[in-house]
Amino acid sequence: MDDWTKGYIADVDYSQGYYRELTPPFLAFALLSQGIRPPKTTGKLRYCELGAGHGFTCNVVASTHPEAEVWATDFNPAFAATARRLADAADIPNINVLDASFEEFAALDLPPFDVIVLHGIYSWVMAEHRKAIVEFIRDKLAFGGVVYLSYNCLPGWAPILPLRRLLSEMAQRATGSTDERIEAALAEAESLAELGAGYLEANSTARKQLTAIGQMPRYYVAHEYFNRIWTPLYHLDVARQMHQAKLTFTASAELQHHIERLCLTPAHQQKLAGIDDLPFRETVRDVILNQQFRKDIFVRGPERVAASERRELLLATRFALTVPRDQIETWADYPLGRYPLDQGPAGEILDGLVQGPRVLADLVSPKDPEDFERKVEALVVLVGTGRVEVGLPPAGDATRAERTRRLNEVILERARHGDQLQSLVSPVLGGALKVDRLHRLFLLGESQGHTDFASFAYAILKEEAEAKQRQGQSVRAPSPLGILMLAQKFDAEMRPLLTQHGIL
Ligand SMILES: C[S@@+](CC[C@H](N)C(=O)[O-])C[C@H]1O[C@@H](n2cnc3c(N)ncnc32)[C@H](O)[C@@H]1O
Repeated sequence: MDDWTKGYIADVDYSQGYYRELTPPFLAFALLSQGIRPPKTTGKLRYCELGAGHGFTCNVVASTHPEAEVWATDFNPAFAATARRLADAADIPNINVLDASFEEFAALDLPPFDVIVLHGIYSWVMAEHRKAIVEFIRDKLAFGGVVYLSYNCLPGWAPILPLRRLLSEMAQRATGSTDERIEAALAEAESLAELGAGYLEANSTARKQLTAIGQMPRYYVAHEYFNRIWTPLYHLDVARQMHQAKLTFTASAELQHHIERLCLTPAHQQKLAGIDDLPFRETVRDVILNQQFRKDIFVRGPERVAASERRELLLATRFALTVPRDQIETWADYPLGRYPLDQGPAGEILDGLVQGPRVLADLVSPKDPEDFERKVEALVVLVGTGRVEVGLPPAGDATRAERTRRLNEVILERARHGDQLQSLVSPVLGGALKVDRLHRLFLLGESQGHTDFASFAYAILKEEAEAKQRQGQSVRAPSPLGILMLAQKFDAEMRPLLTQHGIL
């Protein structure tokens, strides 16, 4: 019988992460700030996620873009089922989830997509599946469409390649479940290191990584290091493959990289400016930065927008704080320095957002012609650090809120049993906002009519801790007074923010 997993780890669960880079408003800002025409973020957007895992992000996108048509596939039926269940529980009608492989998915009658996203896929599948992905994009992406593609890259991973291969081979030769094989392989590699293996002695990065892997969560280790396929790629090669689908690398979704003067010395910048071949220039940049992971945005027919149109579109873009103002650091750290967040243009933006989400036009001084570009750069930094998020136009808030309310109810209910869905969905953002489990339990209690929601959350956490203690795990019981104080802090700090985001 054909093995549908094709060497992919399928018996270890994967996190139900939310990735903002996959949302249309984020992608639009990453492109527009660079002067490239963005994808639409409202209306009849056709959106597709390949290898969606448990599908939290694509459900968030469908919920916050009610007129969009969202398609998602993951060939692991257990993952696709989680995604489907979430959509059903939250009454999200505009998402189609399948457990199809890329090839099977491509054979379906699908609309031409405006946006196709794949996160954590491309370097974890065999060359033939990468080919299938490229063919899918060539056939199914509309012209003008946008692809978000993240992957492990070279040269950053180069010192780790032999270690990774060794671990994978050792795990294949061990017995038992994937978890048991991982433990056996890690122990085996440690024993090789103790014997003084020359590779690990000569490559301190690899030696440190082996120790670090031993301390990482096992679900992550399983998918990052123990897939049979793990191929860090040169950007140059990825760009060539995407070229076959008529795509051009257009911008990085790693917004920190957009602030060149804080990532590259003047000599680096001069060296790169002398390279006309864009994929090679990006590859040399990866060498300079010793890049391990890339978040590329490709466009099928990128179009530069006129400066005046860029200005108009950016001025109409809405932004919101993701954490209370006084929790934001004083500086954003970069490889070559720091960018001030509490003063200058970033400080002014943060102050301007305290009362709630604002469009950029409300944050720019009309008297100072230079202020617009300064504020755009500050927003690139603030969005890059995750302290500010890009939003959708205010006009659709009420319609979107009808949808997101139901999804948030489901997310809150799930907090009772664990901490898998860690964000609440915001109709303002067109995305989600990370919210601590304790805060989600407060909100769950409140939504069920418990005025003393601190006691409600305390009772759940106490019962959970006692159950773990009965199983012999050493877990500290929660303190009722501690939780009461955190509830007061929640009321003072988080509640106003969640209200501004249309979550409450
Ligand atoms: C590392 S996980 C990333 C999941 C998700 N994108 C995320 O970032 O949370 C890779 C996913 O790709 C799926 N996958 C791997 N090969 C596939 C294929 N040939 N067709 C469809 N899905 C595939 C796996 O089942 C897995 O869920």
